[in-house]
Amino acid sequence: MNATAATLNQQESGTFRRLLLQWYQQHQRKLPWRGQSDPYHILVSEIMLQQTRVAVVEDRYKKFLAQFPTVERLARAREQTVLAAWSGLGYYRRVRNLHAAAKEVTKNGGFPRTAEALRELPGIGRYRANAVASIAFGEPVAVVDGNVKRVLQRFTGRALTEEQYWQAAAALLAQESPGDFNQAMMELGATVCVPGNPLCMVCPVIELCALRGPLEKASRQTRRKATLHYALIRKKGSIRLQQRAKEHSLMPGMWELPEIESVESNATPLLRLRHSITTTDYTVFVHAAEKASAGRWVPLRSVSRLPLTGLTSKILRSLRNA
Ligand code: ADE
Repeated sequence: MNATAATLNQQESGTFRRLLLQWYQQHQRKLPWRGQSDPYHILVSEIMLQQTRVAVVEDRYKKFLAQFPTVERLARAREQTVLAAWSGLGYYRRVRNLHAAAKEVTKNGGFPRTAEALRELPGIGRYRANAVASIAFGEPVAVVDGNVKRVLQRFTGRALTEEQYWQAAAALLAQESPGDFNQAMMELGATVCVPGNPLCMVCPVIELCALRGPLEKASRQTRRKATLHYALIRKKGSIRLQQRAKEHSLMPGMWELPEIESVESNATPLLRLRHSITTTDYTVFVHAAEKASAGRWVPLRSVSRLPLTGLTSKILRSLRNA
């Protein structure tokens, strides 16, 4: 089973990609390997990052590449020199493999350009092959590491099997910018969707997340109840939608039905549903309305082209199925 495909429709997956990539462009940490497309530099960074904290890697990465600036230079170096350059980073088998891979790449006249071919090199498994192939060569292959697993686990609301993580990451992958997407997923896990208490208030994809909170959702956590009212205003084949403020901390710039205060108590709503965000359980009412409020008319057939909030998608889906 493809766990993410089961929870997200095509439009939601598209929204997820767009929001994540937008967030990554604005909020990614400035790290020395960012913006690189040299497969050798990327391989060195990914091997170091798999075992060591980013702050340490930043410094060691620059030093290692100052000493061995090209894959050919690394290939020519003596093993003892390479091991000495790795000193303190541990996991020496990794650097021995890196050295062996450099020799093979040099002998073959260059890096293989696909994940499948990269996996033939010593010490390069699925994660490293996919990281290099996507970041250096733009091949649409997903990566899964501990950070990506945590993001996917919270996002789908369940623990997945190893293979399901890979499938879920592949289903979400932005085909046209796989390198940025993969790095954005890892970056989200490293800086926002962190272990323990995630920073959901600044998460770009909170609205699409199943869990919206720590993995071990505390049962003693006090949950709030609240009510939301929205207006469904129709004219011919269009509905009225409005855009959330760009500076809103939650779902900025996304589109939703116009929110209204409440309605007279005897009015029958078109729809009533439940929706939870972080620690609040909302009861949501959608009312038919006539008067056009702020926002704009959107033909129903082009609604799916707008980045809708998760709740709005859910409402429109429920109304379609009603
Ligand atoms: N962790 C490992 N590789 C990474 C990358 N390229 N970007 C962010 N976090 C990472």
